[in-house]
Amino acid sequence: MPAPAVRPARVLSGIQPTADSFHIGNHLGALREWVRMQDTHDAYYVVVDQHAITVDHDPALLRQRTLVSFAQLLAIGLDPERCTVFVQSHVPEHSQLAWVLECQTGFGEASRMTQFKDKSQKGGADRSTVGLFTYPILQAADILIYQADAVPVGEDQRQHLELTRDLASRFNTNFGDTLTVPQAMFVKETAKIVDLADPTSKMSKSSPSGCAFLLDSDAVLAKKFKSAVTDSEREIRFDPAEKPGVSNLLTMQQAITGVTMESLVAGYEGRGYGDLKADTAEVVISFIRPIRERVVELMEHPDELRRLMGHGAAKARETARHTLAAVYDAVGFVAIPGE
Ligand code: TYM
Repeated sequence: MPAPAVRPARVLSGIQPTADSFHIGNHLGALREWVRMQDTHDAYYVVVDQHAITVDHDPALLRQRTLVSFAQLLAIGLDPERCTVFVQSHVPEHSQLAWVLECQTGFGEASRMTQFKDKSQKGGADRSTVGLFTYPILQAADILIYQADAVPVGEDQRQHLELTRDLASRFNTNFGDTLTVPQAMFVKETAKIVDLADPTSKMSKSSPSGCAFLLDSDAVLAKKFKSAVTDSEREIRFDPAEKPGVSNLLTMQQAITGVTMESLVAGYEGRGYGDLKADTAEVVISFIRPIRERVVELMEHPDELRRLMGHGAAKARETARHTLAAVYDAVGFVAIPGE
């Protein structure tokens, strides 16, 4: 008898289209793992445009950034035939499930989410939207609607992943086993790439001078690495706590070239920070250049991009609608024929 087919574990992850370009932190912290996992997992990857409207935004810019985000995912190596890559607003089941989950989330529980606290403190409580407040619940829905087993993310998503697990378990306790409780997956050595200009904070698009964007030109990248902040010592060693700037450069090189940290550091004996910065710039630039060139090509054919978005959305909805039907049934909504 043939062995029963085993379903490969399913993963889901998402990224916001809130910048003109992704950065090397997104890539080494998360996206690279996405590419690897399309061959080992049943993988779903989503550009979360609905999350992007939780703060002030410009509609034309959002449209452009959603297209360029999707193009970047293809350019880094996601293949629409080997994974399901799509845009959140094309799959209405996410927000339908989010409503049900909101009705399972405590007000205090949602108030404790640090990302909300940070962002609302910056903008002032009155200017923060309810959408920003419920952001993590929509994120939970993104994951749970696909019954994902695991979620590859950077460290900054830890708390949202905990909430997702809590909501799935609570739903199952209250209404019977319906949702898969997912595991968070952090890529250990690259889970946090820090800012080039301020190595005490994570690399982020909100601080462009310390951020190496995938769509930055070679010259801009070279300049950012040349001015990378290090420390007042001279020794090149991997020590993220004491030497965050130096360690960050080493981490990037190591992640891209695949050499061991030990031999990378050994190669710098007797050499200075100038060499480390120049080498890292070269490694990063050669890594990023083909991605940027591919994005430019893809953006010349927006209709083809939209066609691929449609293809991804259709695949995603096929899975999402089954989960939503099970959830609606579990909470007691009446099903009508043909739905
Ligand atoms: P976002 O768009 O801020 O970031 C996308 C992914 O990149 C990782 N990342 C980093 N990793 C290492 N170093 C950095 N400096 C760095 N900056 C960002 C993030 O951890 C993330 O994995 N809320 C999510 C988007 C989201 C989502 C989801 C993620 C919505 N729904 C469902 C997973 C599953 C966010 O804002 O990621």
